[in-house]
Amino acid sequence: MFLTDDEKSILNGDKGEVVREALDYIIQFGDAFQAQRLVDITYCHYPAEMAIYEGSVEDVVEYSARGGKVAVPTTTSTLCCDLEKPDITGVPDELFKLQSKVEKAHRKMGICETYTCTPQKIGFVPPFGANIAAVESSAIIYYNSVLGCRTNRGGTLTRYSAITGKYPLMGYMLDENRKGTHLFKVKISPERLDSYDAMCALGFHIGEIVGSEVPVIDGIKPKSLNNIIGFGAALATSGSVTLYHIPGITPEARNLHEAFQGENPKEEYEILEKDLDAVYEKMNTIHSGAIDFVTLGCPHYDLEQIRHVAEMLKGEKVADGVRFWICTNRMTRLQAEYSGYVKTIEDAGAKVVADTCPVESHMRKSTCREFGLKIPNVYDMVTDSVKMVRYVGDLIGCRTRLTDTETCIKTAIKGRWN
Ligand code: F3S
Repeated sequence: MFLTDDEKSILNGDKGEVVREALDYIIQFGDAFQAQRLVDITYCHYPAEMAIYEGSVEDVVEYSARGGKVAVPTTTSTLCCDLEKPDITGVPDELFKLQSKVEKAHRKMGICETYTCTPQKIGFVPPFGANIAAVESSAIIYYNSVLGCRTNRGGTLTRYSAITGKYPLMGYMLDENRKGTHLFKVKISPERLDSYDAMCALGFHIGEIVGSEVPVIDGIKPKSLNNIIGFGAALATSGSVTLYHIPGITPEARNLHEAFQGENPKEEYEILEKDLDAVYEKMNTIHSGAIDFVTLGCPHYDLEQIRHVAEMLKGEKVADGVRFWICTNRMTRLQAEYSGYVKTIEDAGAKVVADTCPVESHMRKSTCREFGLKIPNVYDMVTDSVKMVRYVGDLIGCRTRLTDTETCIKTAIKGRWN
């Protein structure tokens, strides 16, 4: 691999052992994928070390003690509990105490403790074309597709990119890998696609067909930032889609010609109303009766979404026996507290949860087993997110119902799905 003088000097140890070792890992990884050179990254979204994974917290505490500092602005993804208000989710104390240790380690390394899956909503928006290194599939697909940044799906290597500010030139950083592969012509009424859950269902259906390729979706105009985030999160859930184009909407595809870089699609599909119906059919294992969990905020909600929930819950009460979580990040919750939305929501008996979400929390079957908690921890969950439905089925083991946001809130108040 070609190395610049600066990179060679790092490898000689001129910036210390931690940086030398991190660059060495990156070069080895790049060599394995025949990368010709490294690129500078301008931002990193880093995997917060979660206490539900054995050794994860201990590893970052030990690593930070070696003196590593991040070289680029770096945010963190979600944790397994709410570090500021652990009691509101019922996390076991031992798990909370272990998870708390990451904050000090992250701060020492210069990492911003954002603990969210939507860093783009709190201002981390690199410029078009910027190379970045990121984890969290819903954020990655947004950065690649909607902002036109360039990133692969990160893993452990992301730490070393944050420390060096480097990544091998490979995968979605290369122009040729960013061209569309499959064309999806959507023939569904725009009114139906106005809702968050319907856009999620559309993303889920396309992701199932396209797998890990690059879909081009023709015939949709997402109504809001949140609908496009939910759509991308679902695409990345059923498939391992990392990049998509919507001609006329996403920045690398002003038209179909640009989306396919002048080539023809490998396959073409029409997406009809009945395809969306089939997704709901598959997702819905609750048919009627009492429910015990409602969750919103997958990916993490922003202030406007929390405001909407607060308006609907004003003067209402969540039914007895129902847990209702609205998941967000700590910065947004602070603003929501300032604006009075958190109080309204709490007065109704719901919780605004930061840093985590049900899928990443102690409610996972494996964690419940370890801490002697009830399995499944909840039985019947209602949500507006396809991604949440897809993961809680396996990880928490509960029944699910996908519906629109307003119906989720009404169901929490009624305590029943009819
Ligand atoms: Fe975020 Fe949890 Fe959903 S990490 S994307 S809220 S599964």
